[in-house]
Amino acid sequence: MTTNTMPVREDEQLKLKDQVAIITGSGRGIGRSIAEAFLRAGAKVVISDINQDTCNQTAKELKDQGGETLGVVCDVTKSESVDALVAAVTKEWGRIDILVNNAGITRDNLIMRMGDDEWQAVIDTNLTSAFKVSKAVLKVMSKQRSGRIINIASTTGVHGNFGQVNYAAAKSGLIGLTKTVALEYASRNITCNAVAPGFIDTDMTKKLKEEIINGILSRVPLGRMGTPDDIANAVLFFAGPGAYVTGQVLEVNGGLYT
Ligand code: NAI
Repeated sequence: MTTNTMPVREDEQLKLKDQVAIITGSGRGIGRSIAEAFLRAGAKVVISDINQDTCNQTAKELKDQGGETLGVVCDVTKSESVDALVAAVTKEWGRIDILVNNAGITRDNLIMRMGDDEWQAVIDTNLTSAFKVSKAVLKVMSKQRSGRIINIASTTGVHGNFGQVNYAAAKSGLIGLTKTVALEYASRNITCNAVAPGFIDTDMTKKLKEEIINGILSRVPLGRMGTPDDIANAVLFFAGPGAYVTGQVLEVNGGLYT
């Protein structure tokens, strides 16, 4: 994983100044990079993850670098846990301006070998979670009459992928959710967009076999894996105040499938 060594809050215009952002699954990986980008842009960031250790550690490390963070352990598959997250954030900071539905897992298998448990875990964590968290956060954003929701989908959700029928279905569903929330909430000045990463260097992809990694890389026109910062840059665009864009999917994949 590439980490940005610059201290938070020092290298960019503060275009998210004082905005409150929740990023699910931000204890590590892409979520953490999004948190760092938001902090550099002046936001107050809620680090939220099912993993208590990475959640608290990341919130502390970024705070020590000068960022305003709040660490809240949350399992996005559980409604009670999601409600507690939203309650903790509104208690601390009184508003929610940005939500990034980033938490996700893979349980890869060919359809004929896939168990119901593998199917359900991926649907629950990658899709139903976004329904639960968005619904809870939209209540707050509606009252404010402003908000930004960004869902982390996947190239697999747009094009499909061998061995990922559960993940493809969840991420395609997330794109449908994105477009529908965009329509339902545009009148309240709330936008909803998706970023669909390609092949990104995180712990999620480290578990893949070398020949699979090389096979994918041979098809990436830009010739390298993406970094978490590549995704954070795209998310930052949708989160920014001037983005006159809603219901869209931006593939960030080095040109794969073009
Ligand atoms: P990662 O595995 O490094 O990070 C995912 C984080 O989500 C972890 O910190 C994990 O603890 C957390 N999480 C898992 N289940 C959770 C739950 N029930 N509640 C709350 N948090 C939970 O993965 P990575 O690569 O950073 O992925 C982030 C997002 O990007 C995911 O939605 C993934 O599907 C998506 N993505 C990743 C790609 C890649 O190549 N790495 C490609 C396309 C999409």
